[in-house]
Amino acid sequence: MPAPKKILIDCDPGIDDALAITLAHGCEALDLVGITTVGGNVSLDLTTANALKLREYLGFPAVPVVAGSAGALVISRIDAAEVHGFGGLGGAVLPEPRLNVNDGHAIDFIIDTLAASPGEISLTAVGPLTNIALAVRKEPRIVEWAREFVILGGSYTRGNRTPAAEFNIAADPEAAAIVFGAGWTVNQIGLDVSLTALATGPVLARMRDLGRLGGELLIPALEFYGMTTAHDGPAVHDALAIAYVADPSLFEFTPAVVDVETVGRFTSGMTVTDFNLHGRMPNANVARSIDVARFWELTLDSFARVSAQLP
Ligand code: RIB
Ligand code: CA
Repeated sequence: MPAPKKILIDCDPGIDDALAITLAHGCEALDLVGITTVGGNVSLDLTTANALKLREYLGFPAVPVVAGSAGALVISRIDAAEVHGFGGLGGAVLPEPRLNVNDGHAIDFIIDTLAASPGEISLTAVGPLTNIALAVRKEPRIVEWAREFVILGGSYTRGNRTPAAEFNIAADPEAAAIVFGAGWTVNQIGLDVSLTALATGPVLARMRDLGRLGGELLIPALEFYGMTTAHDGPAVHDALAIAYVADPSLFEFTPAVVDVETVGRFTSGMTVTDFNLHGRMPNANVARSIDVARFWELTLDSFARVSAQLP
């Protein structure tokens, strides 16, 4: 077994963010070195409180949780409380945290953490990209220091916040434009792929067998998520970005040039994806497919490991 990959997660918990964090904590191939929070699904106060609750509930009290940006660079803040619940974790109610948020701002934590371990840390963003954009602006060298940069966001076929825009990009299009133009390769997992990884009945049945983790977090969160995302079960979007860091072979990618629309009256937040490049260097590897069965094996095995060691 190779040494676990260090992963820093910028997130807006959020139901699928919570599953992503659980996966990162339980996966033997990963070493969670930090969590930064951003306003998104719910307010920054709530996304940060949820990250703190998850830290203690799941049992990694030494991992820093550092709060970041409350809102977008330019547009007014939007949220997705109708999808994640007003508390942000759907029907899951976790104990109040005893440990406080770590000092400092997420931007500085991201910069300092990557600077201290150049080439070693997989930076993974599963919320609006405000913190990442500000970190890149403050210290452009993070694009060299990150081992890789992975996002759950965007889409080359459709949106979910609007017909054109996926929520994480729609919530801060200007930040996304900065991030896609920063000079690194964005490993982008968008709705095209994340909407194929559903928590179907059989998957939920296996989660129900995971003791307190299933009964207190996974099921109440996903049952709420499922009420608003419907079909054959809720898509666990953010967890796919973590799974990519753990095992890139789960996915197929195509290089592309991705531009972010920021002024379109009906299309702001759209990730305009050019797989033909048209003579330009690609700025993104865009996910085209995932092996759903292998994804769930990795994820449920990791959840089982967390369940067995819950404090
Ligand atoms: O569109 C899905 C994304 O938006 C996920 O990150 C979810 O948590 C929400 O933030
Ligand atoms: Ca999210």
